[in-house]
Amino acid sequence: MSPVVTLDRVTKSYGELVALDEVTLAFPRGRFVAVMGPSGSGKSTMLHCAAALDPPTSGSVLIGEVDVSGLSETRRTQLRRKHMGFVFQSYNLLPAITVEDNITLPLRLAGVRADRDWLGELVDELGQTVVMVTHDPAAAARAHDTLVMADGKVIEVLDAPTPEDLAVRLTRLTGEPVA
Ligand SMILES: Nc1ncnc2c1ncn2[C@@H]1O[C@H](COP(=O)(O)OP(=O)(O)OP(=O)(O)O)[C@@H](O)[C@H]1O
Ligand SMILES: [Mg+2]
Repeated sequence: MSPVVTLDRVTKSYGELVALDEVTLAFPRGRFVAVMGPSGSGKSTMLHCAAALDPPTSGSVLIGEVDVSGLSETRRTQLRRKHMGFVFQSYNLLPAITVEDNITLPLRLAGVRADRDWLGELVDELGQTVVMVTHDPAAAARAHDTLVMADGKVIEVLDAPTPEDLAVRLTRLTGEPVA
Protein backbone atom coordinates (compact mmCIF):
# COMPACT_ATOMS: atom_id res chain seq x y z
CA MET A 1 0.00 0.00 0.00
CA SER A 2 1.30 3.46 -0.83
CA PRO A 3 2.52 5.62 2.07
CA VAL A 4 0.23 8.30 3.50
CA VAL A 5 3.05 10.84 3.51
CA THR A 6 6.35 10.73 1.62
CA LEU A 7 9.29 13.10 2.05
CA ASP A 8 11.82 13.08 -0.77
CA ARG A 9 15.11 14.91 -0.09
CA VAL A 10 13.32 17.53 1.96
CA THR A 11 15.46 20.44 3.12
CA LYS A 12 14.17 23.31 5.25
CA SER A 13 16.50 26.23 5.84
CA TYR A 14 16.07 29.33 7.95
CA GLY A 15 18.65 31.64 6.46
CA GLU A 16 22.01 29.96 7.00
CA LEU A 17 20.55 27.40 9.38
CA VAL A 18 19.64 24.03 7.85
CA ALA A 19 16.89 22.72 10.13
CA LEU A 20 16.08 19.71 7.91
CA ASP A 21 18.81 18.30 5.71
CA GLU A 22 17.71 16.24 2.66
CA VAL A 23 15.39 13.97 4.60
CA THR A 24 13.85 11.07 2.69
CA LEU A 25 11.25 8.93 4.43
CA ALA A 26 7.78 7.49 4.10
CA PHE A 27 5.00 7.11 6.66
CA PRO A 28 3.12 3.89 5.91
CA ARG A 29 -0.63 3.57 6.37
CA GLY A 30 -1.76 2.20 9.72
CA ARG A 31 1.49 2.77 11.61
CA PHE A 32 2.13 4.49 14.89
CA VAL A 33 5.48 6.23 14.51
CA ALA A 34 7.40 8.03 17.25
CA VAL A 35 9.98 10.73 16.52
CA MET A 36 12.81 11.32 18.98
CA GLY A 37 16.03 13.30 19.04
CA PRO A 38 17.76 16.12 20.88
CA SER A 39 16.23 19.58 21.09
CA GLY A 40 16.87 21.41 17.82
CA SER A 41 17.41 18.19 15.80
CA GLY A 42 14.54 19.07 13.45
CA LYS A 43 11.62 16.99 14.76
CA SER A 44 9.04 19.80 14.66
CA THR A 45 10.38 21.10 11.36
CA MET A 46 10.06 17.62 9.83
CA LEU A 47 6.48 17.26 11.08
CA HIS A 48 5.53 20.73 9.89
CA CYS A 49 6.77 19.84 6.40
CA ALA A 50 5.22 16.34 6.48
CA ALA A 51 1.85 17.81 7.49
CA ALA A 52 1.96 20.59 4.87
CA LEU A 53 1.98 23.27 7.56
CA ASP A 54 5.23 24.67 6.13
CA PRO A 55 6.60 24.37 2.60
CA PRO A 56 10.07 22.85 2.28
CA THR A 57 12.94 24.95 0.93
CA SER A 58 13.72 22.12 -1.50
CA GLY A 59 12.67 18.54 -2.09
CA SER A 60 9.12 17.26 -2.26
CA VAL A 61 6.38 16.25 0.15
CA LEU A 62 3.59 13.96 -1.02
CA ILE A 63 0.33 13.57 0.88
CA GLY A 64 -1.03 10.40 -0.64
CA GLU A 65 -0.25 10.95 -4.30
CA VAL A 66 -0.41 14.74 -4.17
CA ASP A 67 2.83 16.72 -4.23
CA VAL A 68 2.11 19.54 -1.79
CA SER A 69 5.55 21.17 -1.83
CA GLY A 70 4.65 23.74 -4.46
CA LEU A 71 1.03 24.34 -3.47
CA SER A 72 -0.39 27.62 -2.21
CA GLU A 73 -1.16 28.10 1.49
CA THR A 74 -4.87 27.87 0.65
CA ARG A 75 -4.54 24.50 -1.11
CA ARG A 76 -2.29 23.16 1.66
CA THR A 77 -4.89 24.22 4.23
CA GLN A 78 -7.63 22.39 2.30
CA LEU A 79 -5.53 19.21 2.19
CA ARG A 80 -4.66 19.44 5.89
CA ARG A 81 -8.29 19.82 6.84
CA LYS A 82 -9.20 16.76 4.83
CA HIS A 83 -6.35 14.46 5.85
CA MET A 84 -4.69 15.59 9.08
CA GLY A 85 -5.43 15.91 12.76
CA PHE A 86 -3.08 17.66 15.16
CA VAL A 87 -2.28 17.69 18.84
CA PHE A 88 0.36 20.34 19.45
CA GLN A 89 2.49 20.91 22.49
CA SER A 90 0.33 22.60 25.10
CA TYR A 91 0.46 26.18 23.82
CA ASN A 92 -1.44 25.32 20.65
CA LEU A 93 -4.13 23.18 22.26
CA LEU A 94 -7.56 24.67 22.79
CA PRO A 95 -7.89 24.14 26.53
CA ALA A 96 -11.68 24.06 26.60
CA ILE A 97 -11.89 20.94 24.44
CA THR A 98 -10.58 17.40 24.83
CA VAL A 99 -7.58 15.78 23.11
CA GLU A 100 -10.04 13.84 20.97
CA ASP A 101 -11.75 17.07 19.93
CA ASN A 102 -8.39 18.67 19.14
CA ILE A 103 -7.61 15.75 16.83
CA THR A 104 -10.96 15.81 15.07
CA LEU A 105 -11.27 19.61 14.88
CA PRO A 106 -9.74 19.82 11.38
CA LEU A 107 -12.29 17.29 10.11
CA ARG A 108 -15.15 19.26 11.62
CA LEU A 109 -13.82 22.52 10.20
CA ALA A 110 -13.85 20.78 6.82
CA GLY A 111 -17.49 19.81 7.39
CA VAL A 112 -16.90 16.07 7.84
CA ARG A 113 -18.65 14.36 10.74
CA ALA A 114 -16.16 12.52 12.94
CA ASP A 115 -17.95 10.49 15.55
CA ARG A 116 -16.18 8.18 17.94
CA ASP A 117 -17.15 4.93 16.25
CA TRP A 118 -16.07 6.22 12.86
CA LEU A 119 -12.37 7.92 14.15
CA GLY A 120 -12.04 4.03 16.14
CA GLU A 121 -12.60 2.31 12.75
CA LEU A 122 -10.06 4.66 11.23
CA VAL A 123 -7.39 3.48 13.61
CA ASP A 124 -8.23 -0.21 13.76
CA GLU A 125 -9.56 -1.03 10.31
CA LEU A 126 -8.87 1.76 7.87
CA GLY A 127 -5.30 2.28 8.94
CA GLN A 128 -5.00 5.77 10.38
CA THR A 129 -1.35 6.77 10.76
CA VAL A 130 -0.17 8.47 13.93
CA VAL A 131 3.14 10.34 14.23
CA MET A 132 4.14 11.44 17.71
CA VAL A 133 7.09 13.58 18.72
CA THR A 134 8.29 12.83 22.22
CA HIS A 135 11.28 13.08 24.53
CA ASP A 136 9.94 10.19 26.63
CA PRO A 137 11.46 6.77 25.76
CA ALA A 138 8.59 4.96 27.50
CA ALA A 139 6.06 6.81 25.32
CA ALA A 140 8.07 6.17 22.13
CA ALA A 141 8.32 2.46 22.95
CA ARG A 142 4.54 2.21 22.53
CA ALA A 143 4.88 3.07 18.84
CA HIS A 144 5.52 0.54 16.06
CA ASP A 145 8.61 2.36 14.82
CA THR A 146 10.77 5.13 16.20
CA LEU A 147 12.69 7.62 14.04
CA VAL A 148 15.74 9.12 15.71
CA MET A 149 16.75 12.56 14.45
CA ALA A 150 20.00 14.49 14.90
CA ASP A 151 21.26 17.62 13.13
CA GLY A 152 18.35 17.78 10.70
CA LYS A 153 18.65 14.16 9.57
CA VAL A 154 16.91 10.89 10.40
CA ILE A 155 19.86 8.90 11.69
CA GLU A 156 18.04 5.73 12.73
CA VAL A 157 14.73 3.96 12.16
CA LEU A 158 14.11 1.49 14.96
CA ASP A 159 11.55 -1.29 14.78
CA ALA A 160 9.86 -1.77 18.18
CA PRO A 161 12.72 -0.52 20.39
CA THR A 162 12.55 -0.95 24.16
CA PRO A 163 12.55 2.16 26.39
CA GLU A 164 16.08 1.13 27.45
CA ASP A 165 17.32 1.01 23.81
CA LEU A 166 15.92 4.48 23.27
CA ALA A 167 17.28 5.92 26.51
CA VAL A 168 20.78 4.68 25.63
CA ARG A 169 20.63 6.18 22.14
CA LEU A 170 19.33 9.54 23.33
CA THR A 171 21.89 9.72 26.10
CA ARG A 172 24.60 9.15 23.49
CA LEU A 173 23.20 11.93 21.31
CA THR A 174 22.60 14.52 23.99
CA GLY A 175 25.30 13.56 26.46
CA GLU A 176 22.70 13.74 29.19
CA PRO A 177 20.81 10.93 30.89
CA VAL A 178 17.16 10.67 29.81
CA ALA A 179 14.51 10.15 32.48
N1 LIG B 1 10.83 29.52 12.42
C1 LIG B 1 12.13 29.33 12.62
N2 LIG B 1 13.04 30.30 12.36
C2 LIG B 1 14.35 30.10 12.54
N3 LIG B 1 14.90 28.95 12.99
C3 LIG B 1 14.06 27.95 13.28
C4 LIG B 1 12.64 28.08 13.11
N4 LIG B 1 12.06 26.91 13.48
C5 LIG B 1 13.06 26.11 13.85
N5 LIG B 1 14.25 26.71 13.75
C6 LIG B 1 15.56 26.12 14.04
O1 LIG B 1 15.65 24.89 13.34
C7 LIG B 1 16.29 23.89 14.13
C8 LIG B 1 15.35 22.72 14.32
O2 LIG B 1 14.27 23.15 15.13
P1 LIG B 1 13.06 22.21 15.54
O3 LIG B 1 12.07 23.09 16.22
O4 LIG B 1 12.59 21.46 14.34
O5 LIG B 1 13.75 21.20 16.56
P2 LIG B 1 13.06 20.10 17.50
O6 LIG B 1 13.79 18.82 17.25
O7 LIG B 1 11.60 20.12 17.29
O8 LIG B 1 13.44 20.64 18.97
P3 LIG B 1 12.60 20.52 20.35
O9 LIG B 1 12.86 19.15 20.89
O10 LIG B 1 13.23 21.58 21.21
O11 LIG B 1 11.16 20.78 20.07
C9 LIG B 1 16.69 24.58 15.43
O12 LIG B 1 18.02 25.01 15.30
C10 LIG B 1 15.73 25.75 15.51
O13 LIG B 1 16.31 26.82 16.25
MG1 LIG C 1 9.96 20.53 18.52
